[in-house]
Amino acid sequence: MRVFCSSAKYSAEPSRRRVKRLQVEVVAQMGKDSDFLGRDILSIRDYKRDQLERLFHSVEDLEKSPNSLDGLLKGDLAALLFFEPSTRTYSSFQIAASTLGMQVTGFASPAGSSVSKGETLHDTIRMFEGYGADCFVIRHPMPGAARYAAETTDKPVINAGDGSREHPTQAMIDLFAIRKAFGKLDGLKVGILGDLKYGRTASSLAYGLSNYDVEMTFIAPEALQMRPEVQHFLKQKGITSKSEKDLRSVVSELDVLYVTRIQKERIPDPTEFEKVKGMYQVNLETLKEAKPSLKVLHPLPRVDELAAELDATNFADYFVQAAAGLPLRMVLMSLVLGDGS
Ligand code: NCD
Repeated sequence: MRVFCSSAKYSAEPSRRRVKRLQVEVVAQMGKDSDFLGRDILSIRDYKRDQLERLFHSVEDLEKSPNSLDGLLKGDLAALLFFEPSTRTYSSFQIAASTLGMQVTGFASPAGSSVSKGETLHDTIRMFEGYGADCFVIRHPMPGAARYAAETTDKPVINAGDGSREHPTQAMIDLFAIRKAFGKLDGLKVGILGDLKYGRTASSLAYGLSNYDVEMTFIAPEALQMRPEVQHFLKQKGITSKSEKDLRSVVSELDVLYVTRIQKERIPDPTEFEKVKGMYQVNLETLKEAKPSLKVLHPLPRVDELAAELDATNFADYFVQAAAGLPLRMVLMSLVLGDGS
């Protein structure tokens, strides 16, 4: 779906009226998009290629006209409930919602809320519903928490990461960033490196990539390899994937290298963490054999798995990737709540 019409059509109008008219048109088109309108965004598996492509076209349009959605959702209230720490996801949703004109409430970590006194997810949601929340953005350490939240309220719930399982909006950002770097996703060889067992961004990206004609290589120590259910899903969809222990043996083939940190907080046994900690690091030396066009992505935060010496090279795409989070989350919220009321 193309969200924006040619601005030339309105160029004679004063800018405030022009924005209003653009918004009316945006809402009219978004209102037709029943794949997003009023829906929960719980798993990237719920999205097919054409839906993702419509989303990406709208993000491209927003990048071309950065103010065109400003104030679109004025009067709506977004409840951002983060039961786990976050920097990028929380702040980009917060800025996205405010730029859309929404009021924002909630908490960025459980420490400052009644969750630290033992309040349940159910009660927290019901309470914010009572305050008039029009949508919920939820991050939680328990897998399935976002789905449970969606069953608790009639308002749309956006999963901002639940446990080690799903992070659908991050996967949308990652797909968008790869597409932006190469102008396509089909035909690419994508390596996903790191903690693929506990890292929700890695599995969500693999699910998202399964909508495209890509070859995936999962690079991880055995103890952190991609979970069987993800590999099974890919196999059923006929997607080629292979598993490797060592980056060096595959780096020369790759177009994209998606690096993730070891999810220390999710590894149940500290001795297991001791065994895998520091097992991989991506730096200039490990990328010696890489194609000059290789793009390195990372959902961030990084710890020691991605050397800062890469930041100034053409390989580094992770800050561009992080920046895409804002327009993408703006478009997503507009599509979910774009009722124009
Ligand atoms: C990731 C997450 O929370 O899963 N961060 C993010 O949302 N960009 C990755 C991580 O914490 O390692």
